Amino acid sequence: MTDQELLDRAFKALENAYAPYSNYRVGACVLCKDGTTFPGCNIENASYGATNCAERTAIFSAYANGYRRDDIEAIAIVCEGKTMASPCGICRQVLSELIPADAKMLLANREKYMETTIEELLPLSFGSKDL
Ligand code: THU
Repeated sequence: MTDQELLDRAFKALENAYAPYSNYRVGACVLCKDGTTFPGCNIENASYGATNCAERTAIFSAYANGYRRDDIEAIAIVCEGKTMASPCGICRQVLSELIPADAKMLLANREKYMETTIEELLPLSFGSKDL
């Protein structure tokens, strides 16, 4: 799948965002090595801390369908802001455990996108190796 196709799927998922409080819609799409994709969007709550970010929705969906870290090839995360989508700290922690360190991450807004990895976004991460 091309980067653009994965980004398109993430933008399609963004349309399902439930973001009545922030009005900041985010979409994500996980691409597995077998070609299966899992969309996700942010889902807010009046108890703000209960909000789930788009990338966690997508990766949890992949796991809920039986996929695991080594099955995952890439994730796209997109928003409509002035800046490209940048995963929050909680999502970086979650992704550092649930996707490969070098899995392709595409971060985008409507104008542009960049490629990175979770290793780059969260260096020296805390994980199972530390316990
Ligand atoms: N949000 C995401 O979905 N992903 C991120 O990595 C950053 C923040 C959502 C959470 C909330 O619904 C809205 O963006 C504003 O914080």
